[in-house]
Amino acid sequence: MIEKNEIKDIMIEKVLNDEWDKYILPFKTILVEYRCAIMEIEAKFKVLDTQFNVSHDRNPIESIKSRLKSVDRIIKKLERYKHPMTMESIEENIWDIAGIRVICSFTDDIYFLEKNLLQQDDIRLIKRKDYIENPKPNGYRSLHLIVEIPVFLSNGKKWIKAEIQFRTIAMDFWASLEHKIRYNKEISEEYKEEINKELFECAWMCYQLDNKMQKIKNKSNIESL
Ligand code: GTP
Ligand code: MG
Repeated sequence: MIEKNEIKDIMIEKVLNDEWDKYILPFKTILVEYRCAIMEIEAKFKVLDTQFNVSHDRNPIESIKSRLKSVDRIIKKLERYKHPMTMESIEENIWDIAGIRVICSFTDDIYFLEKNLLQQDDIRLIKRKDYIENPKPNGYRSLHLIVEIPVFLSNGKKWIKAEIQFRTIAMDFWASLEHKIRYNKEISEEYKEEINKELFECAWMCYQLDNKMQKIKNKSNIESL
């Protein structure tokens, strides 16, 4: 497996060998395309949020967090899935280079935003995974969409893939902390089962919290969708 420092070394060597155009420029070129896709998708959500505010007097979006996958993570993912190490392969196989996380107030805001996004005629739905209806066995909940969006560049139009994750504040709270606890960590065998069980219980509490908040909202005089 290529380690982060090795990638850096390879990159530095390539640059020193005056191979910038061959190795670095193609990465920069495609990453900028994904950055543009993030900007466009964020703008779409901001438009929906602003319009909703005028008609319903509240915002369905609490916050948007976007990220571009780093070059070393892209290379590691290609290795993990045994995909070829080419620019074409990156574009074809890595669907989460552009990642947009939309944190919503209530669960039904998620489906409202999804519906409104997907009915736009410049958005193509590639894949949908509803981990809210069907949570992962560890308790993870979120709605994931892989979409394609046209980015208009100086040399023409290009369809770019992006991963959108919709979560409520409670779903995001659980996923963020679970990620911190579990990701890249060697949890000792002694506590593994206990920690998994406790994290699952926390996910269940977040689910109940979301349900309760949704019911309170439905009873209150907040404008319904
Ligand atoms: P990747 O190969 O990692 O992209 O996984 P996948 O193709 O099976 O996609 P999936 O939709 O299941 O998950 C992709 C992303 O969702 C991850 O990179 C995380 O951001 C998030 N995610 C999925 N499962 C979990 C989980 O159990 N815990 C947390 N914290 N995040 C998760
Ligand atoms: Mg991913």
